[in-house]
Amino acid sequence: MKQVLITGASSGIGEALVHQYLKQGWQVVACGRNDARLQQLSAVSPAVQPLRFDITDPAQIAAAALQVTQLDVLILNAGDCRYIDDVMQFDGELFASVIQTNLISAGYLLQHLLPKLKRGGQLVVVSSSATLLPFTRAQAYGASKAGLDYLAASLRLDLQQYDIGVTLVHPGFIKTPLTDKNDFAMPFLQSAEQAAQRIYRGVQQGRMYLHFPKRLTLLLKVLALLPDRVWYWLAGRMDQA
Ligand SMILES: NC(=O)c1ccc[n+]([C@@H]2O[C@H](COP(=O)([O-])OP(=O)(O)OC[C@H]3O[C@@H](n4cnc5c(N)ncnc54)[C@H](OP(=O)(O)O)[C@@H]3O)[C@@H](O)[C@H]2O)c1
Repeated sequence: MKQVLITGASSGIGEALVHQYLKQGWQVVACGRNDARLQQLSAVSPAVQPLRFDITDPAQIAAAALQVTQLDVLILNAGDCRYIDDVMQFDGELFASVIQTNLISAGYLLQHLLPKLKRGGQLVVVSSSATLLPFTRAQAYGASKAGLDYLAASLRLDLQQYDIGVTLVHPGFIKTPLTDKNDFAMPFLQSAEQAAQRIYRGVQQGRMYLHFPKRLTLLLKVLALLPDRVWYWLAGRMDQA
């Protein structure tokens, strides 16, 4: 049986990924902090190994990794999204906390879990299409995800020699508890199940880069090619709307 480890498995995209991999007959190490939700997942199938730890605590990561055997796929999906509501009262604590959860944790997860990934395996990094352009109030989230983009790209170079592929994922808006908090329009919103299917299929194909829904991500990519002032003008208009 093939084995996948998924961080952020207790909710949203990660939880949908657990079900997707189970459906395909995989053994799943489901990680998160919420014990009740992890227990619910393990009740679904004996193929689920729940693993509770906080990714912001290196000691907890190290202890959890001792319970992990060989992996075919490692999915770094857990994340936090919070906004800087007042740029002139810049919240340094919030900034540090989001960077810690989304980016710094990846270093410790790689330290302890990469050695478990088999040759021929795949590392998956869930970033965000928010890195394609600057968005209002997204200084912390966007900076953390832009860091993940570089991390994934650079890892891909150095993991080639170990026959480990890297898939970078740029989801658009996906309906999960993370986006349920948003108070703005989310065009082309997709379900967590749709996102999980796209990710599963792309990872199986060994793709380097996944972005969806294309209606949104291709639009953002085109806008990113235009002179900077076009986006700043448009974003300013959207902010006032
Ligand atoms: N939803 C979207 O539209 C969207 C778009 C682009 C990118 N993404 C990215 O997709 C990933 C999953 O997001 P989602 O929308 O599925 O969010 P979600 O439903 O809020 O799930 C977040 C997951 O991350 C885990 N997590 C957060 N902080 C953690 C910590 N300190 N230690 C351990 N686990 C932690 C949570 O576990 P516990 O609750 O058990 O702590 C939860 O399972 C994130 O990286 C997010 O940035 C989402």
